[in-house]
Amino acid sequence: MAIFDTHAHLLDEAFDEDREKLLTELPQMGMAGMVEIGVDVDWSRKAAALAAEHAFIYASAGVHPHEASGAKEGFTGELRELLLRPEVVAIGEIGLDYHYDYSPREVQQSVFEAQLRLAKETNKPVIIHMRKAYEDTMALLKKYKGLRGVMHCYSGSLETAKEALKLGYFISFSGSVTFKNAVNLQPVAEYVPLERILAETDCPYLSPEPFRGRRNDPSRVRYVLEKLADLKKISYDDICAINIKNARELFGL
Ligand code: NI
Repeated sequence: MAIFDTHAHLLDEAFDEDREKLLTELPQMGMAGMVEIGVDVDWSRKAAALAAEHAFIYASAGVHPHEASGAKEGFTGELRELLLRPEVVAIGEIGLDYHYDYSPREVQQSVFEAQLRLAKETNKPVIIHMRKAYEDTMALLKKYKGLRGVMHCYSGSLETAKEALKLGYFISFSGSVTFKNAVNLQPVAEYVPLERILAETDCPYLSPEPFRGRRNDPSRVRYVLEKLADLKKISYDDICAINIKNARELFGL
């Protein structure tokens, strides 16, 4: 069954040794598609170039909350230019991260909001990173109501998931939904309607069981999909087809 990874960072240095080999092998392993996610302007530019070279790869362009302090004046202009390319399908990943606080919160907020405005203007979907910042993230998503998007690597509560669904967002699950201690997250996956669910790896991070702690790669989205099939009580083939259909809808492929 064909698989689709809606969120990967293949340009991470963790893949420097074998990236070329993986790029050849992934389509042979049934990867119908994957989205290479930008975390700053430079990475987004490289993601777009990677996507232009490989038919199964799409790219997103955006500034991650961790990188918010590094965003230069006029960075949205550079992102806007990248978004004109057909292989650049979304703005992301963007959002707020109060767990690490790598950038000051006010800077994270203004960089996030600038990109939400860009999404409104360009009519592109957004890929949302939200960690320990539920209230502020949801308040901004409500302020910019009407955007299409996905809550990536979802780790919040069922209540917050319901709010995001009400705003029209997809909810994407990573390897963390396979962990034995995912007792709060698995009920969220059970709740999210099939027409709003997505699977991702967020590789090189968050390898699913039974590979937890090791480097992740896009092919392991299979284990996330297996877990979701389990939780949703549907077949593996059905969840794979649903994930691809939802990814196409969200990203306009
Ligand atoms: Ni990511």
